[in-house]
Amino acid sequence: MSDDTNDGGVKQQKLQTPVGIHDLLPDDHEYFTFIKKVVRHRARQAGFKRITTPILENTEVFARGVGDATDIVSKEMYTFEDKGERSLTLKPEGTAGVVRSYIQHGMKEWPQPVQLYYIEPHFRYDKPQKGRYRQFWQIGFEIIGESDPALDAQIIDLANRINEDLGVAHLFSIQLNNIGCPKCRGKYKEDLVNFYIGKERSLCGNCQERLHNNPLRLLDCKSEDCQILAELAPKFDQYRCPECVDFYTKLKGFLDELAIEYVENPKLVRGLDYYTGTVFEFWDKHQGAQNAIGGGGRYDGLIELMGGPPTPGVGYASGIERIILNMKRENVTVPSKDAIHIFVAQLGDDAKRKCLPLMNKLRDRGIKTVGALGKASMKAQLRLADKFNVPYTLIMGITEVREGVIIIRDMAKGQQHTVSMDEVVEKVAALIGEENLDNYSPGEAIY
Ligand code: HAM
Repeated sequence: MSDDTNDGGVKQQKLQTPVGIHDLLPDDHEYFTFIKKVVRHRARQAGFKRITTPILENTEVFARGVGDATDIVSKEMYTFEDKGERSLTLKPEGTAGVVRSYIQHGMKEWPQPVQLYYIEPHFRYDKPQKGRYRQFWQIGFEIIGESDPALDAQIIDLANRINEDLGVAHLFSIQLNNIGCPKCRGKYKEDLVNFYIGKERSLCGNCQERLHNNPLRLLDCKSEDCQILAELAPKFDQYRCPECVDFYTKLKGFLDELAIEYVENPKLVRGLDYYTGTVFEFWDKHQGAQNAIGGGGRYDGLIELMGGPPTPGVGYASGIERIILNMKRENVTVPSKDAIHIFVAQLGDDAKRKCLPLMNKLRDRGIKTVGALGKASMKAQLRLADKFNVPYTLIMGITEVREGVIIIRDMAKGQQHTVSMDEVVEKVAALIGEENLDNYSPGEAIY
């Protein structure tokens, strides 16, 4: 970070991305594009529509939505005052913003349930490490307006199918729990706090703080001592009310019907306050809760909490960077559409004048084309063509300009032949093969 350079006697620090924040370079973008494509495809198949909420929201959206007592709100938000002294926050997660939007735009008048998905950057002042960043991307799905275990099963199934499409599903186990409704959870929280009272000194600093404002979180703390105590703590199973038992039983039945394997985990709580009933996470089979690839659950009280009418909801989100890490770990390759077909080399201004419109014609035909438009020698241009790893190079010198022709060079064989400028586009298209051309139709939806 402190890589200083001496610039005329003035020490300058190299400009870098902030800690925990990364550039998304072209290589990662190939994965990114592929993941977005899979998500859009699966979302459309299941009737989800895309939503983009702003990157900045009024802080109150998250303070109320995610919960003041959560780590996200109390420690991890990027919050600042704008010039009008309003408190704004870079969104740390997607659900609260979507719910704010559902209420603001009267989506309760739309056919219910409303099914929305998003592909968005999020920001958390987290401790940076592999798979944990301060800016990260999430894909997320929300179903708002109806409560039925079949919807929860559908969300889990969708998440699982996306992981399957991306070649990483087998690396993760689905951890499942039902943390009850306010009715059954109240008594449980009371007994849980009573269990921990007198044992505070065995808890980590974080859990000592959480004991009175967010006691459920003590169950899924990763510190070893807290885990030992959590094993001995009262279990929620005995507190679940009949409605929650019924909901949970039905959900498990639907998952069985869909042949989705899951692990019942009575200690799974999740780090956001809005959950009621179903919670689930996709855990790495070797690393456990560390670096979960995604998680979600039901939030039947959130819409009302945020000022809307009582409305149930369920959703899921997954981190794109973590998906990419796992795809790479599994050597999953993605089709690259970036490979260039043709390099155009030319000598002299006259040749350049002919080559510029030719490059446009080639591109319009779906032939991915780059050209050396600087002042390099022919030898340097051909070296560059090699670096682009193109199958063919088109060469135009002074003679070719005069004769209205151009040379096609087969880079692998080192052979070349001359064709007229009128037929070069079709000749090249035939060499590349119709199926390999990058034909873009403005009629297609572009996101
Ligand atoms: P979450 O568990 O906080 O849930 O985040 C979901 C996923 O986002 C995580 O499993 C992880 O893959 C990724 N993620 C979270 N924090 C980071 C980070 N610092 N660096 C990299 N990746 C990260 C939610 O955000 C809920 N809104 C999910 C939800 C939607 N529940 C209902 N609807």
